[in-house]
Amino acid sequence: MVLCLIGLAVVCYGILYAIFLYVLDCDLELAFYEKFGKPISRLRGKVVFITGASSGIGENTAIALAKHGVKLVLAARRKAELERVKQNCIACSNGKLAENDVLVLPMDMLDFDSHEKNFNLAVQHFGRVDVLLNNAGRSQRANWENIEMRVHKEMFDLNVFSVLNLSSIAIKYFNTVGSGHIAVTSSVTGVLPLPFSATYIGSKHALHGYFNSLRNEKLTTDLRLAVTLLCPGPTFTNFLQESYTDTVGQKYGIPTQNTDRRMTGERCGELCAIAIANETHESWMGLFPMMPLLYLFVYFPIIGRIIMKVVGPNNLFRFRDSKDISLSEKQS
Ligand SMILES: NC(=O)c1ccc[n+]([C@@H]2O[C@H](COP(=O)([O-])OP(=O)(O)OC[C@H]3O[C@@H](n4cnc5c(N)ncnc54)[C@H](OP(=O)(O)O)[C@@H]3O)[C@@H](O)[C@H]2O)c1
Repeated sequence: MVLCLIGLAVVCYGILYAIFLYVLDCDLELAFYEKFGKPISRLRGKVVFITGASSGIGENTAIALAKHGVKLVLAARRKAELERVKQNCIACSNGKLAENDVLVLPMDMLDFDSHEKNFNLAVQHFGRVDVLLNNAGRSQRANWENIEMRVHKEMFDLNVFSVLNLSSIAIKYFNTVGSGHIAVTSSVTGVLPLPFSATYIGSKHALHGYFNSLRNEKLTTDLRLAVTLLCPGPTFTNFLQESYTDTVGQKYGIPTQNTDRRMTGERCGELCAIAIANETHESWMGLFPMMPLLYLFVYFPIIGRIIMKVVGPNNLFRFRDSKDISLSEKQS
């Protein structure tokens, strides 16, 4: 009788889990925090430094934070776009933010020598920086064996080494004030290695290694450091247009279309802001069937591998990009 009840409980738990994963567009922890966790407004008055804030996920996270009166440093290369985002942030804040509460900081993440000066400018302007969100990055669509070595190096410079350089400057500053928070926009592909973007996926996996190791290294030090890995799935941004291919200097250049199956930038920005407010370690976001796939791959890797094989790389490509692989082959 007892065994029957335990069995029934396990089956009910499994069914509930499956239903949740069908309905939710994020992992269960983040969904819980959205309903019952700390509100984004707990960050009101704090300063969040966002790289890649001129468009896409960075822009939408900035707006989600601005709505709650979070002060912002908006960094990227396109100054005019940053000014546009700044005005949107002030408008969305409903009077909680004034001109001086949003700092536009034009900077090229690949100019490593400028990082310290720019970070110090933000500290001087606000007297503090509480959170660094490393979001700037570019993706890739390419066949594994054709990727030029210079593409691997350029992408790691932007997606990994620039992030490490700016983060180490931030951590040295956090050491002086006793606490801080580093967030990094990774990707669901930092967890689930989908095909046809090997360098990109390698770079996102590298971020997980570096930043999980950082969190563990600071567990028992005087510095109270939070480290959050944000893992969005396919989202409507300029991302595909800007993606690398296998060839140096070439952009993928294929735009997203309204009919694509992607999360909106607004929703992704909102989820990123919730994850930051709740200092999660790792948060997954994406439309169905991304969540069940991630849970399967992480918790039942053998079943995950079988599913990968049955579905096949071309279908996985179509699932990720809402486009056929042949389009990408014509491109390169
Ligand atoms: N969209 C998706 O489906 C998706 C999914 C998972 C993860 N992500 C991640 O989300 C992050 C943001 O991408 P997104 O989708 O929002 O694409 P996006 O709209 O193209 O945004 C990329 C941002 O990075 C900035 N950037 C690029 N190169 C830079 C450089 N050298 N120096 C400074 N800033 C630079 C761009 O600004 P400027 O051009 O003005 O410099 C822009 O603000 C990336 O890390 C990406 O890996 C995106």
